[in-house]
Amino acid sequence: MQTSRGQSCIDCPRSPSERIITHISLMRLQRTVNALQKRILELKKEKHAIILGHNYQRKEVQEISDFLGDSYGLSVQASKTDAKVIVFCGVDFMAESAKILNPDKTVLHPNPKAKCPMAGMVDAKSLRELKAEHPGAPVVSYVNTSAEVKAETDICCTSANAVKIIQSLPDKKIIFVPDTNLGLYVQRFVKDKELVLWPGYCPTHMNIVKEELVKLKKLHPSAEILVHPECSPDVIDYADHAFSTEGIIRHVVSSPKTEFIIGTEENMIHRLRKEAPGKTYYAVPGATCPNMREITLEDVRDSLEKLQYRIELPKDIIKKAKIPLERMIAAGR
Ligand code: 13P
Ligand code: SF4
Repeated sequence: MQTSRGQSCIDCPRSPSERIITHISLMRLQRTVNALQKRILELKKEKHAIILGHNYQRKEVQEISDFLGDSYGLSVQASKTDAKVIVFCGVDFMAESAKILNPDKTVLHPNPKAKCPMAGMVDAKSLRELKAEHPGAPVVSYVNTSAEVKAETDICCTSANAVKIIQSLPDKKIIFVPDTNLGLYVQRFVKDKELVLWPGYCPTHMNIVKEELVKLKKLHPSAEILVHPECSPDVIDYADHAFSTEGIIRHVVSSPKTEFIIGTEENMIHRLRKEAPGKTYYAVPGATCPNMREITLEDVRDSLEKLQYRIELPKDIIKKAKIPLERMIAAGR
């Protein structure tokens, strides 16, 4: 028998009785997970709901999602669903985007504690002040922003299309909020433009440090290093490629390589194992987003049972924020 770490039971340091207890506890846990998943599938039908899940969700939440993807893919799915209820398993700004794109539908966020700290690093008032300092410069907002910030924005982008969107603008000076690292990444491809950056950052991707990648590469010299553009410039320089989460999945699926060091939220590896089984993935220590992990199966069940927590946004904000989001979707990946 193999343990979850790939050791054989013979190598396992636990005593035989400890091993039996662990095995029984795992079986009980799996039964609870199965029962919750079954209940969620029943409720989903009953409520005419669709579950959209981000690639960083817990494995068991990924398993009950109708669609898994990156921020771009999830926005596209949200814009074209005909379900009455959208349950969004991701962080706050993602659920808000689904509501902006579907103002007449019920959009549920199963756990309001799942908030992206980077999205909270810029507010509408500060952005208005920055706009006043750079009159005429268009605003490109990373989709990791509040609805109020989107309402002050010309066009949104995700990490999947940030370069393409900024390249497509005729302007020489562009305000880009809130992620400095993504802005610096885009700047590599648009040398003729001046990006006015904001000091926002993702705490999870700042935890991914070059020294850890160097150590992993020494241990696994044939592994390709794939990171997210929210990582710091020295990490991106050292990596083989920087992609959005879905970009990482697409690359791995089509690559002839078999070993990968994954420089983004570790939960991505569940999705990778599903899409490209038989390949080997190495997680980078510290690459966890506690906010994305807030949503549990119990939260999803309660969300469907009680139709909670509904995303509600002022009508005028929805009207204004819809414009940059729809422009982003129209621009494609
Ligand atoms: P993706 O759009 O690449 O899925 O990224 C979202 C995110 O929050 C990354 O930290
Ligand atoms: Fe926000 Fe970073 Fe978590 Fe993505 S990984 S949701 S940017 S905190």
